[in-house]
Amino acid sequence: MLNYQRTIPTKLYFGKGQISHLEEALKSFGKNVLLTYGGGSIKKIGLYDEVMKILNEGGFNVTELSGIDPNPRIESVTEGVRICREKDIDVILAVGGGSTLDCSKAIAVGTYYEGDDMWEMVVNAEGIAEKAVPLVTILTLSATGSEYDGGGVISNMNTNQKLGRSYTYPAVSICDPTYTFSVSPYQTAAGSADIMSHIMEDYFSRTDDSDLSDGIAETILRSVMKNCPIAIKEPDNYSARANLMTNSSIACSGIPAYGKQETGWPCHAMEHELSAFYDITHGVGLAILTPRWMRHILAKDSTATGRFVKFARNVMGLDGEDEAKLALAGIDALEEYFKSTGIPMTLTELGIDEEHFEVMADHANEEGYLKDAYVALTNEDIIQIYKACL
Ligand code: NZQ
Ligand code: ZN
Repeated sequence: MLNYQRTIPTKLYFGKGQISHLEEALKSFGKNVLLTYGGGSIKKIGLYDEVMKILNEGGFNVTELSGIDPNPRIESVTEGVRICREKDIDVILAVGGGSTLDCSKAIAVGTYYEGDDMWEMVVNAEGIAEKAVPLVTILTLSATGSEYDGGGVISNMNTNQKLGRSYTYPAVSICDPTYTFSVSPYQTAAGSADIMSHIMEDYFSRTDDSDLSDGIAETILRSVMKNCPIAIKEPDNYSARANLMTNSSIACSGIPAYGKQETGWPCHAMEHELSAFYDITHGVGLAILTPRWMRHILAKDSTATGRFVKFARNVMGLDGEDEAKLALAGIDALEEYFKSTGIPMTLTELGIDEEHFEVMADHANEEGYLKDAYVALTNEDIIQIYKACL
């Protein structure tokens, strides 16, 4: 087990009715609020009205930034920074899924960036300010863990780049599972695949003796596979939505990686390229890539077999004497599970062909992620994995 340090400064309010803490959370920062949200789902579910009532009754001055896209764009960050600077914003209130939260994190630090070119800030990550406008979030989709981590992922569709960076932690996150009752079956399945991927990216590491991390990881994976199908069938099943939400926050928090060697999150690096070129849903890209990546690395390096056997036994509930077969059976079972949730499981279904695979592989490795992966990946490996996804 390796050394580790961790501070998670976010105060989480989890559960039904926790919006009752919103006013006190915002008040501690000031009166000028930037309210950020996406394409309007928060209006459909009545959350916008609920939030506005609290803000109006609390005497806050509210400016809105709406229309933040899934795979949030640099243009929204630029606009948010302009508003924060002009209106002397004291606190950002982000209401939505990972895209709204991520965009708001970039706005929070972008406000203090020395310069106006926000894409330059994202690309040259070293210039990201330590100081940030305080951020309060209300989560509406269980997936990314952005409510309980400091990262954010911003896209530039002009340059086909989607880059993950460390920005700032939310000061407060309100996680009420009832706000996720309206999430579509497709987004529920995609978000759940994302939660699982956050776990699997660290589970498949060269550190074999971090029992706590492995135990948390296996529990979360089993819990997601149990609760996602329930939430798809019964969207307002509180217990299923609550389990998905709490799994989402922990999966990306770093806790399931305690004491483990970093892996560079290869499936995320490969997926971000798919989203950057084709604007696809993050979790769907991960579900397509993960079983193909697993088969590829298992074939490339048989020393990985032991961990895949552990995965097959402890996560997929399989058994058998022949370890090589058991390892593969676990991967097949994972793929079958993803299929059963109804999301596309090939790139062809998404209209993606091999045209950009070479340059995507180049980009994915450029960030330096994949040399440290559980089994190191060359550009050629990545191209082969993409091809296996067609
Ligand atoms: O835009 P609105 O109208 O709100 O609709 C959204 C959007 O269309 C909808 N939605 C959200 N909550 C809903 C709802 N629909 C009905 N009812 C609700 N309660 O769902 C759609 C997708 O929303 P989005 O925020 O894009 O989804 P998600 O939370 O999966 O976020 C994805 C983004 O986060 C990044 C991804 O790359 C992607 O850009 N990630 C962020 C991470 C982080 N901060 O740590 C880590 C992840 O690995 C990931 O990369
Ligand atoms: Zn993810």
